[in-house]
Amino acid sequence: MAKRKNSTRRRLDRERAAQSERKDYEYHLPVMLDECCDWLITDRNGLYADGTLGGGGHTAEILKRLDVGGRLISFDADPVAIQHCTARFSDELSKEGGSRLVLRNANFFEACSTEEIHLRKVNGLLLDLGVSSRQLDTEHRGFSYRSNTRLDMRFGTEGRSAEEIINAAEEDEIERILRNYGEEPFARAIARRITERRRAVPLQTTQDLRFIVEETTPQSTHAKTLARVFQAIRIAVNRELEILDGTLRGIIPLLAPHGRIVVMSYHSLEDRIVKTVFKEESERDFKNGDNLPRLKTLTPKPILPSEKEIQENPRARSAKLRVAERTSLDDVPIFKKKAKFQE
Ligand SMILES: C[S@@+](CC[C@H](N)C(=O)[O-])C[C@H]1O[C@@H](n2cnc3c(N)ncnc32)[C@H](O)[C@@H]1O
Repeated sequence: MAKRKNSTRRRLDRERAAQSERKDYEYHLPVMLDECCDWLITDRNGLYADGTLGGGGHTAEILKRLDVGGRLISFDADPVAIQHCTARFSDELSKEGGSRLVLRNANFFEACSTEEIHLRKVNGLLLDLGVSSRQLDTEHRGFSYRSNTRLDMRFGTEGRSAEEIINAAEEDEIERILRNYGEEPFARAIARRITERRRAVPLQTTQDLRFIVEETTPQSTHAKTLARVFQAIRIAVNRELEILDGTLRGIIPLLAPHGRIVVMSYHSLEDRIVKTVFKEESERDFKNGDNLPRLKTLTPKPILPSEKEIQENPRARSAKLRVAERTSLDDVPIFKKKAKFQE
């Protein structure tokens, strides 16, 4: 009898855990969760930053792996993510004796000016770039051409929306956005049609933009063109590429020796920036012998999700994971120790 009661309790516990996991992942199913955390955490009592909190999938796993002395600052520009995670991590956040977790409704660029990170130095920064499934699926955010809503596309509430940019930017500027951030072959024609149309009526909704793209480009390419155009405008609205480049370079002097930068990107423009910064910082001035490179690239080739993960989560299919580590005088041959350790 007691045996049966125990097994029923265990089954109910398992079902409850699975149910709560499903609820946690309704917001966003984290990509390469174990891989990211295996690379990120080198000291269980260290200080870490998750720049892209989202639904908190990676934050939850990092917390699981940290000891009591560990600390995690998680950023998201989107107040909805902060609200969701304030509820999700309410136990941790209200822990007696102090929480290991701090949530910040801010751009991850602010990690570079966070006092605690300056004082203590950070053992790892994780960036899981782009939008969350919740943001994509929330109609009124305007990220998807399948919705019919105002053209917003901001991660947070600050800065110019897509509507403001599309209605105010010069034709050349729109063309540049579409070409540089979407690699869009019909950039010129679409930019021209946008500026012609807005002279009559300003563009307001995702469907206004969709109609212009569909009118201007061959039908057989509509799905791909729409994806590229929406991606390009989202990147411009959130200044995603400048912020990524600035954060990667800005965090280097704030990394503890052997502290890591772990970045998951989802398109070639992001990946190129990560690869370039890691490469430049790993080779920097090394040949002259007077300055040490500030980073060591730990993943010469990007790590990709497994077939199984892609099947279970198709949004993982374009993910690329790259990791670099802060250099330290300890790993430099003795004859080079006179070299300057760059801040
Ligand atoms: C792919 S989701 C992260 C998902 C998260 N790792 C998880 O497991 O749930 C990206 C999140 O980062 C946020 N984000 C993107 N760029 C940002 C930036 N520059 N600063 C702050 N948050 C940003 C987005 O608002 C979004 O919530």
